[in-house]
Amino acid sequence: MRIRIAILGDIVGTPGRQVVASAVKRLKREMGVQVVIANVENAANGSGLTPDLHKKLQLAGLDGMTMGDHAYRKKQIVPTLERGSDIIRPANLSAKAKGKVCLRLVAEVEEVKLPIYVFTVVGRLFMNTMQGTDPFATADRLIEQIHERPSVILVEVHAEATSEKVAMGWYLNERVTAVFGTHTHIQTADARVLPREIEGPRSGASVLPLGEGGTAYITDLGMSGPQDSVLGRRVDRVVSQMTTAMPAAFDVAEGNPEARGVIVEVESSTGRAVGVETIVLGPEDA
Ligand SMILES: [Fe+2]
Ligand SMILES: [Fe+2]
Repeated sequence: MRIRIAILGDIVGTPGRQVVASAVKRLKREMGVQVVIANVENAANGSGLTPDLHKKLQLAGLDGMTMGDHAYRKKQIVPTLERGSDIIRPANLSAKAKGKVCLRLVAEVEEVKLPIYVFTVVGRLFMNTMQGTDPFATADRLIEQIHERPSVILVEVHAEATSEKVAMGWYLNERVTAVFGTHTHIQTADARVLPREIEGPRSGASVLPLGEGGTAYITDLGMSGPQDSVLGRRVDRVVSQMTTAMPAAFDVAEGNPEARGVIVEVESSTGRAVGVETIVLGPEDA
């Protein structure tokens, strides 16, 4: 049995939320997707999330939500991060940071019920707004705590540096179903199932049961939001600040909203990814 999971990149502002709402419908009704998750750290006017927007995204059909370095930008989201069963904050923060760090969802297709675990780590390179602890050690620790087999394990690496994301992909190769990057808001062209055999010693013991496929990887899912923008913000404001040094309000842009991300196809008997494709869904596609 094959299960299809859609993972959408950072939802930015109202244009992002609206285009994701239409994309989720299409993914589930027409594209054979059973579960949709998304990074929602930029949903509230470009930065953070509110309880009201969390509810709206639930109603839109999102099954799981992740946060990045903007997790606490809106303080009122903290009780939701502590109690919600569908939302997590990055796992590699201070032990005193509030909120859950690992999601457990279930994909149900016919008589198959497949657990799906999701966690996020933030990178350490060039991350100015949130300093995390070792993302590699955190990933090791969380993977060790997952005992259900088979299960799907999805790992988000929310990071600025391409190198750190690529390294995480290789580090978790053959140990998780998918490693996907977020935070840089530009979809990369490197989605693939990583080859099983690489040079040198493997970074950790294989966890996935043997079988077809392996670990799906992409450096950045891209942004679910207005693409005619600078990473979701108004072009005129960003260019003005960059060219004059005078501060400008980085309001969320509106033009050309698209939901971007990947669909990962999973073999339910092993939890291995057997395929991954990038997706771009505009409002007209709904
Ligand atoms: Fe973001
Ligand atoms: Fe971010």
